Amino acid sequence: MMNHERIISRLDRTIILVGMMATGKTRLGRMLARTLKLEFIDTDQKIAADVGLSIAEIFEKYGEMEFRDRESEVIRRLLGTDRSVRVIATGGGAPMREENAGLIFGQTLSIWTRAEIPVILKRAGKTGRRPLLMKGNPEKTLRDMAALRYPVYQRADLTIDTDHGLPRNILQNILTGIEDILTA
Ligand code: S3P
Repeated sequence: MMNHERIISRLDRTIILVGMMATGKTRLGRMLARTLKLEFIDTDQKIAADVGLSIAEIFEKYGEMEFRDRESEVIRRLLGTDRSVRVIATGGGAPMREENAGLIFGQTLSIWTRAEIPVILKRAGKTGRRPLLMKGNPEKTLRDMAALRYPVYQRADLTIDTDHGLPRNILQNILTGIEDILTA
């Protein structure tokens, strides 16, 4: 049996991707969902669609706090109330509220997509979509963020390095890691 079929037959909880911005959560999450024939939800995309504005516009118009409240609400809905098994990609700051972390690390199969800061900087710099990097010194912002966030991301069940390699090879590492967890 291919490992994704073994995963499908054993998976009993949502798979959630956490990690810094531009580490591949959305792209890998979508690929993973397709492979496992599960629904995929990206919390940033969900919030943007609900509000009818981009994430950058939401930050600008309503402020980060409003965005964070909406983010917690989406996570509460997906992991608290409705517990269907899916693949969810979160925004980089999502696990930083204890309420969210409790749900994420308490009842899902969690994956930390990790990449070195210079790689993140290079990838994130390309899009201009990330409000937290649009002011000040982006490298310092990312390093300070990493210092606060890594201890939290470390609570994930699985850590996957996403700096190098083709997405399909990284996906294979994710599938192998998930299978190990489910068969342990
Ligand atoms: C954020 C990451 C973004 C988005 C928002 C804040 C963060 O999501 O939620 O700009 O605090 O790291 P991505 O991680 O998908 O870029």
